[in-house]
Amino acid sequence: MNILAPSILAADCSRLGEELETIRSAGVQWVHIDVMDGVFVPSLSFGLPVVQSLRKVSDLYFDVHLMITDPLRYIHEFAQAGADSITFHLEAAEDPDEVIRSIRTEGKNVGISIKPGTPVEKVLPYLEKIDLLLIMTVEPGFGGQAYIEASTERIREAGRAIAERGLAVNIEVDGGINRKTIDTVLEAGANVLVMGSAVFGNDTFHNAQWFVQKLGEAD
Ligand code: DX5
Ligand code: ZN
Repeated sequence: MNILAPSILAADCSRLGEELETIRSAGVQWVHIDVMDGVFVPSLSFGLPVVQSLRKVSDLYFDVHLMITDPLRYIHEFAQAGADSITFHLEAAEDPDEVIRSIRTEGKNVGISIKPGTPVEKVLPYLEKIDLLLIMTVEPGFGGQAYIEASTERIREAGRAIAERGLAVNIEVDGGINRKTIDTVLEAGANVLVMGSAVFGNDTFHNAQWFVQKLGEAD
């Protein structure tokens, strides 16, 4: 199933609750929450208090993307705060298996992300243990960047590996996904599409509605 996951990094942070309600009313079911620590990536974004506050006002599926060093340290807290799925970076985890176990213990869905420079084969040993593989299609850290073309082959490679193993792992893409690049990533085999600037901003409702419909038709 294809899923749209708007990234609130591009939303109006002075009224995040309303932004979530707008996308929900347009048919969106997931929201992507980018947590940045200023160490794993140069930028800072938001953390636990924002997730907690949003959980109180929204039933959307919270797809939390941790761009932080030592993710193990915060799994319990993000689970408690209201994450439905927790994605950590392979590059940031000393012992990825331990992080996976910790997320499972919390009863949440598990995602692993790889940056554009990390070979897809590095994540293959974990495929059986995860629900989602997030292939970054820009360098993590900032919204509004251009899609890295070399990502297309990486999505295909991941899709082949998942199919060969007979698994049902979601392939998520994040960065530079918009009306121009959507067909490319869908054709390559991605099924969870993160979008920041393509959804939020001018006419958020109609943007979200357009992408939800587009993804439904492509299913
Ligand atoms: C980048 C973040 C993305 C970002 C995507 O580090 O992980 O989720 O918000 O933004 P756009 O869709 O504008 O490229
Ligand atoms: Zn993200």
